[in-house]
Amino acid sequence: MKHPEIEKRIQDLLDRMTLEEKAGQLNQSGGSLVGAFDLSFEELMTMVQDGRITEEEAHKMLSDAKHDWHEDDLRAGRIGSYLNVIGAEEMNRLQHIAVEETRLGIPLINGFDVIHGFRTATPIPLAESCAWDTDLWQRTARMSAEEATAAGVHMTFSPMVDVSKDPRWGRIAESAGEDALLNGLYGEAKVRGYQTDDLTRHDALAACVKHFAAYGAAEGGRDYNRVDMSPQRFEEEYLPSYERAVKAGARAVMPAFNDLSGVPCSVNKKLLTDILRTRWGFDGMTISDANAIAECINHGIAADRRDAARQALNAGMDMDMTSGCFLDHVKELVEAGEVSMDRLDEAVRNILRLKFELGLFDDPYRSSPEQEQAAMLTPAHRALAREAAQKSMVLLKNDGLLPLKADLRIGLAGSLAFDRDEMSGTWSGGYRDGDGRSIQDGLDAEGIAYQAVREDQPLPDCDVFLCAVGERKAESGEAASRASLDLTASDIALLKRLKESGKPVVAVVFAGRPLCLGPAVECADALLMAWHPGVEAGPAILDLLIGRVNPSARLTTGLPAATGQCPTLYYDHIRTGRPAGVFKYTSKYLDAPVTPLFPFGFGLSYTSYRYSDISAAQTSDGIHAEITVRNTGDRAGDEVVQCYFRDPVARRVRPMRKLAAFEKVALQPGESKRVAFDIPNAAFAYYDQEMNLVTDDGVIEIHLGGNVRDTLQADVDYRHP
Ligand code: GLC
Repeated sequence: MKHPEIEKRIQDLLDRMTLEEKAGQLNQSGGSLVGAFDLSFEELMTMVQDGRITEEEAHKMLSDAKHDWHEDDLRAGRIGSYLNVIGAEEMNRLQHIAVEETRLGIPLINGFDVIHGFRTATPIPLAESCAWDTDLWQRTARMSAEEATAAGVHMTFSPMVDVSKDPRWGRIAESAGEDALLNGLYGEAKVRGYQTDDLTRHDALAACVKHFAAYGAAEGGRDYNRVDMSPQRFEEEYLPSYERAVKAGARAVMPAFNDLSGVPCSVNKKLLTDILRTRWGFDGMTISDANAIAECINHGIAADRRDAARQALNAGMDMDMTSGCFLDHVKELVEAGEVSMDRLDEAVRNILRLKFELGLFDDPYRSSPEQEQAAMLTPAHRALAREAAQKSMVLLKNDGLLPLKADLRIGLAGSLAFDRDEMSGTWSGGYRDGDGRSIQDGLDAEGIAYQAVREDQPLPDCDVFLCAVGERKAESGEAASRASLDLTASDIALLKRLKESGKPVVAVVFAGRPLCLGPAVECADALLMAWHPGVEAGPAILDLLIGRVNPSARLTTGLPAATGQCPTLYYDHIRTGRPAGVFKYTSKYLDAPVTPLFPFGFGLSYTSYRYSDISAAQTSDGIHAEITVRNTGDRAGDEVVQCYFRDPVARRVRPMRKLAAFEKVALQPGESKRVAFDIPNAAFAYYDQEMNLVTDDGVIEIHLGGNVRDTLQADVDYRHP
């Protein structure tokens, strides 16, 4: 929402700015690395890809190398923003140059990827989404903001709300899974947690919703690949999560690398202007992804950097992340009349507005080294990270082995059980090696004795094996697509070896994505999907395994039986004319099931729940549905009651299930609760073939239960309003 006083101050500045100074405000610099040689981040990554240096060497160079922030360009007004300045002292030093040594003293805005915590790494988003807990999501975002702003960060490139239906895509790790509603609610909670309702607070962090749009639908699960879908599917399944996050008040939006049905998002006017500005009324700032404007040349949509700059600006892009195309070409494009001065002024206005809203003009130095030191990794932050991890890890199997009895002799197996730093997961830039707590640390903290299982030694004499398998963090996240979701051969061999011992086995899976866990199901008596659970991984895993905490997490993406099921595994699929069945001529695979190994919404607990007495009826606003859920076990627990619907006959084929709402309820042993949902009429609307938004008269099926597969059903003879 625009504030007249700020708009006046913006206009006053604009009236005094030269064309070069306006171009400078559009330019975000990532600095460059000064180490053995001066090279850009992209060049460094190329050296890794062609094997000239290893990932570890690159990581060390990145963390050790001195950055060249091109201070002379800053003094000349050619830089309006930085990417990845870390540290209050360094940020204040650069801010001082911007404020005191440039002609107009316009402050910098500094962006960083605060994706799941900053120094206190919390569970990766895909993990935390399994908590189905908007309050938790908001609290961890708040903590992230307190730490990141203390370190000189003003804006985070988060929340990522890309609906992710293909686990082969490494960035599913950064999402809230396969469902539009969950991604939208996750994004909304994160925006509120980061920003609060007062952006001028020193610990308020501007949120940047990304990647706009439908990046999670990259063909083949291959990162950066094409996205091509019907406008109906785009509007119904992919756009809603961005809309909810933007309307939560996010002050920035980042277009995605991919094209959308042939037009790269970076130059896609329909996205960046027609939908974002005109339809949604967004008045914040758009910022490209890294180098994405220049990469429109690779897409084959721009002839050169000048053309890319022209198209991006005219489509509605405001800030250029590190490509330099805007800085190099804006002046000539405006002078040639290929970009209007009005459009340039609007882009500068959107950027200045955010700087004013953050209070950076009146209060440019928002932190200090002392404040920074005090904010990091506090006991309260560790406690919150531990709570988030407890609520994010999904119990998939338990043949009665868990909770572990006391005084059991444990054989600890799998290198990931001893590795603190793999627990932080992808995009954990503020994390510092050694901060994490592994399963080994968790056992030590509990005073539980264990023997390490070594490959080259006979199995120790123990009562139970605790075995860690799965992915390392470098195998997930950006540019980490996989053609196979199988566990590694060594993990499978280890699980089989332990199984053959005849001793019970608890398997803990670390991963940034759904994996094919068939071998773990076969070999383990208990199976915990831990994802990458953050700095408090070990203590939280022990909290669950010894029963101090009752598991309550539920999957936000199905887990595949086979990689070949991707990308058709998602729960809101359509029925087809020949639904999979035993008859040969039906939609199925010869060599794999069509259902996931574990369905969307699934998760076990140390207690059990029974559902009964479903009811549903139309009201003036939509459909009211109720169900009774009872804790039939002997210990308290939290159950996620899920509400799905299906429109069995419509003018376009509709999903077999669509999540409309959920409620997490705490139940004491034997306690029952009546849980009610009110599904608004708007939920039943969809686009017909001509892109008219319609709803039908006729039966609407309501499905309520503890996961998408195991539900009770009530039908409503629905009359649309
Ligand atoms: C990366 C990612 C984006 C991130 C940006 C800045 O390439 O695509 O999510 O925010 O660059 O690091």
